[in-house]
Amino acid sequence: MSTTKTIHTRPFAGQKPGTSGLRKKVAEFTQAHYLENFVQAIFNMLGDCRGKRLAVGGDGRYYNRQAVQIIARMAAANGFGKLLIGRDGLFSTPAMSCVIRKYATDGGIILSASHNPGGPDADFGIKFNGANGGPAPESAGEAIYRQTLSIDKYLILDSEDIELGRIGKTELGGMEIEIIDPVADYAGLMASIFDFDKISQLLVNRRFHMCFDAMHAVTGPYAREILEDRLGAKPGTVINGVPDESFGGGHPDPNLVQARELVDRMNGDAPLAFGAASDGDGDRNMVLGSGFYINPCDSLAVLAANAGLVPGYGEGLAGVARSMPTSRALDRVAQSLEIPCYETPTGWKFFGNLMDAGKITICGEESFGTGSNHVREKDGLWAVLFWLNIIVESRKPARSIVREHWQRFGRDYFTRHDFEGIDSARAAEMIERLRERASGLAGERAGELRIQAADDFAYTDPVDGSASTGQGVRIFFDDGSRAVFRLSGTGTANATLRLYCDKYETDPSLMELDTQRTLAQSLQAAGEIAGIAEFTGRTAPDVIT
Ligand code: G1P
Ligand code: ZN
Repeated sequence: MSTTKTIHTRPFAGQKPGTSGLRKKVAEFTQAHYLENFVQAIFNMLGDCRGKRLAVGGDGRYYNRQAVQIIARMAAANGFGKLLIGRDGLFSTPAMSCVIRKYATDGGIILSASHNPGGPDADFGIKFNGANGGPAPESAGEAIYRQTLSIDKYLILDSEDIELGRIGKTELGGMEIEIIDPVADYAGLMASIFDFDKISQLLVNRRFHMCFDAMHAVTGPYAREILEDRLGAKPGTVINGVPDESFGGGHPDPNLVQARELVDRMNGDAPLAFGAASDGDGDRNMVLGSGFYINPCDSLAVLAANAGLVPGYGEGLAGVARSMPTSRALDRVAQSLEIPCYETPTGWKFFGNLMDAGKITICGEESFGTGSNHVREKDGLWAVLFWLNIIVESRKPARSIVREHWQRFGRDYFTRHDFEGIDSARAAEMIERLRERASGLAGERAGELRIQAADDFAYTDPVDGSASTGQGVRIFFDDGSRAVFRLSGTGTANATLRLYCDKYETDPSLMELDTQRTLAQSLQAAGEIAGIAEFTGRTAPDVIT
C-alpha cells in the first residue's frame, strides 16, 4: 500500500528558470527537497492537477533516473491521471515535444541541462513544456518562480521505485503509468516529413559516407534507429551512440571544439561527405560538409530557401523567425519568398506562439538550433534529415549548396565570442552601462567605424501582446556590420558574456574570406565601446563559434 505524504519545506533562493528552464549544479539539485520544491511549484502553477496527463523523461545525465522516480511519486500524490515515461527515463527534447502533442498530454517535464556537462560534479536541469509541446512561456516561468518563493509543502507518495526499463502500463497510487519507446513516435514523425526512400538510396547505394556524432548523449538511440536501422546507413555511422550519465566526461556541445572526433573525419585525406552532431538533449545540431563548416545561421537560411525540396514543406512556408542575435541571412530568404520574417529574443520559448498561430513554419537560432512547426522545440536530427533530403534532391554536396546560396543571396559573415566564468556583478554592470548609453551612441566613432544606431532590444509578442525587455544591446555600424551584447541565461556558475557579430557581403569575389578577419574591425570596435577588457579583465574570448 502506498500512502500520500505531505512534506513541509522552505523556499530555496534562486529557483528562477533561465533561458531554458532551471539549471544548477548536481550538488544543488540533490539537496533534500530542492527538486521536489520546484516540481511542486510547477504543479501549483498548473492548478488542479487531478486527472491531468503528464509526460516525463530526460537526456540520461546523472540524476535523471532518480528525478523521474521522484516526479512519478509526486505526480501520483498530486492526483495526476496519467504519466507517460520514456523507457529508462529517456526522451530527447524534440521527442518529448512530439509525444506531448501526439498523446495530447497537459504538458511534460524534461530533465536536461542541454549541452552542459553531466555527472555528479556537473550540471542538472529541469524544464516544463506546456500542452503545445513547447517550452513554458516567460509568464509561466514567472508563475513557477513565484510559487517557489512561497512554497511550504509538497505532496509525495511513499512507494517503491517503478520499473523504468519495461514498456507497458502500470499503476501508482491510482495514477496510470505508461512506459513507452522514446524513439518510435519521433522516428514516425520524421518519416512523415522527409523522403525516407530517397535518403535511403543516398545512404545505401551511392558512395556517400557520413558520420553522426551523438556525443555520448541522448540522440544515440534516435540516430541509430533512424539513420542506421530505418535508412540503412552503414553500422558505425553513428559514433558515441550510447547515452552515458556523464557524456563520456565531455561537453555534449556540438561545435568544432567539442565534436573533435567528427571534425577529424570531415577533414584530412579521405574526408566524409557529410557530418553532423547533436547535443545532450538532442535539440541542437552542427552540420558539416567535406572539410567545410556550415554556420548555423547559414544552415537555417539554406533550409528555408530549399524547403520546397522536402515533402513535409512542399506547400510552402507561412513565415520564418530567428532570434535577434542570429545573422540576417534568413531575412534575405524570406524577402525573396515574400513571406514574413520575425525577430525574437534569444530562447526557443519565443517561437511557440508564432507557430501556434500559424505565422511561421521554420525558425532557428545562431546557437546551433533549428526547427519547425512539426514540434515546438528545436530539433537536431530533424535538421540533419532536412540536409540529407536537400542533398539528395539537389544532387549537390553540402558545400556547393552553401556556396551557391551565398552567390544568390549574398553572405552574412557571423561569429559569436563567449567570455566565460566572468564576475557576475561586473558583467551586469557592463551591460547596464551599455544599456544606459545605447540610445546616445548613434553618430559616435569607434575605431575605423561610425555607429549608425544602437538600442536595447525589446520584443512585443505579436500573438499575445506580452512584452520582453532588456534582451540584448545592438550596435549597428556604418559598414553594415552589427554587434550584439547579452549575458547568458543558461550557465550555472558566474556569468558568460556573449558578443555576436555579423556583416553582410554581396561582392561574389568576397564570399570565401576568413570570418574572424572579416569581422575583426567590428569586434574590436564593439569591445572598445563596451569596455570588455576593463570590465572582465579579458583580452580574448574563451570560445569562438
Ligand atoms: C543559449 C543560447 C540560446 C538557446 C539556449 C538554450 O542560451 O544562446 O540561443 O536558446 O542556450 O539552448 P544563453 O546561454 O545564451 O542564454
Ligand atoms: Zn539542448
